Amino acid sequence: MKVSSMTRRDFVRLGAGAVAAGAAVKSTLLEPAALAAEGADRIIRFASIGTGIRGCDLLRAARQVSTGVCVGAADLYETRHQTAKEAWGGEIPTTSDYRTLLDRKDVDAVFVATSDHLHRRVTLDALAAGKDVYCEKPMSHSVADGQAMVHAVQAGKRIFQAGSQRVSSILYAKAREIYASGRLGEVHEIDAQWNRNSPGGAWVYPVPADASPQTVDWASFIKDAPPHPFDPVRFFRWRLFADYGSGLGGDLFVHLLSGIQVITGMNTVASRAYSSGGLYHYKDGRDFPDLLETVYDFPSQDGGIQVHLHCNQNNNDNDERISFFGSKGTLVVTGQSVTFTPQDVTPHFESYGWNGMTVEQRRKGEEEWRAAHPEPPQPVGGAESFTLPKGYNDTADHIANFFRAVVTRQHVVEDEVFGNNAAIGCHMANYSYFHHTVAQWDAAANKIKG
Ligand SMILES: NC(=O)c1ccc[n+]([C@@H]2O[C@H](COP(=O)([O-])OP(=O)(O)OC[C@H]3O[C@@H](n4cnc5c(N)ncnc54)[C@H](O)[C@@H]3O)[C@@H](O)[C@H]2O)c1
Repeated sequence: MKVSSMTRRDFVRLGAGAVAAGAAVKSTLLEPAALAAEGADRIIRFASIGTGIRGCDLLRAARQVSTGVCVGAADLYETRHQTAKEAWGGEIPTTSDYRTLLDRKDVDAVFVATSDHLHRRVTLDALAAGKDVYCEKPMSHSVADGQAMVHAVQAGKRIFQAGSQRVSSILYAKAREIYASGRLGEVHEIDAQWNRNSPGGAWVYPVPADASPQTVDWASFIKDAPPHPFDPVRFFRWRLFADYGSGLGGDLFVHLLSGIQVITGMNTVASRAYSSGGLYHYKDGRDFPDLLETVYDFPSQDGGIQVHLHCNQNNNDNDERISFFGSKGTLVVTGQSVTFTPQDVTPHFESYGWNGMTVEQRRKGEEEWRAAHPEPPQPVGGAESFTLPKGYNDTADHIANFFRAVVTRQHVVEDEVFGNNAAIGCHMANYSYFHHTVAQWDAAANKIKG
């Protein structure tokens, strides 16, 4: 079903959790916005560069967005030319050399869904050809790559969007609204987790039988990486290797950090990050740990925020979850829901501290306390929960926002600065893990130092 065709079904009901928790949970189904409502006075002609797992997802999602049409696709593995056509659902010109797409005057914008190490090259070439760019996350493979990309976007006055699609999700918009309302009070702690427990979740992806130097343009794949003889495992499981991928930091931390950035409005880089972790199960020659934990120190208006990210590829107890711990309440964002639980912060007589006093001292203390607090405690409101409608696709919303920006020339939320900040968070996590030190962000030098 097309997201844009969903009917308005905004209803309130008592959640099942209400009984267990002993308090009512007001639960609301969120309503998707019409995808092509504004900025639809022009159809964006885009080409897709990299049509593997994510590139195909982008093409499938783009079918829901009526403001854009795919006019070409490029991939280094020949068989994926057919995959691209299947994902788009129609005939499109395909090539192994993306530069031929950039030469075309009828291409307004490109999607870049290559392995991380080629984001910079493909994006810079596309910008130089005057195209706007939607580049998958993590925006960069290194701090230097990100800076070159930011500079090129700004110098060329192009529209750029990084691909953490949750930034455009109606769920995250609701979380942002609750956060901005001040109902959480002061927030100094954020915890985010994303676990998986399967080979696919640990990037052990299929290596197709027809993979060979004849079907894969290996030379182009390793252009910005150290020389290496053809290796289909490196090509199809590039996430395992630091030459091409960015580990859990680039795969999952970037989504979590982007979510934190958009919900809090804290579009900046942490001052420090400390990582711990290890490679415990997937000892298949990979460079990255399968468990990574990082604590970040972020500056904030009211003093600072500690952000704790952790991803474990050997347990699936917690899927995707970001928790914001405030002095007046807690906000929890999962893959499908946002829940705000207020805390009882009205003053109460706290008897515990009087346990070491005489009966008379306690009686007097309580009497004085009650005289100072004549108002009865106010009842605390119940928890509120908001859930996504079935079939909602945040990638379609993200693409629609990009197409709209290509028309209006207004920045998207997840622009080059936002995307670069989130990617630097990933690089700081990896720096700390691999160097066994606290990673410090030197903002003046635009560098990570140990
Ligand atoms: N936003 C998300 O939720 C999400 C999900 C998955 C992946 N991603 C990101 O998308 C990107 C691609 O990941 P994937 O899982 O699709 O990888 P993949 O290996 O399945 O696909 C990458 C494709 O890019 C192609 N490619 C590489 N260099 C190219 C070049 N120079 N020209 C043309 N094609 C080229 C490869 O041939 C390959 O088919 C990564 O950066 C990844 O982090 C984002």
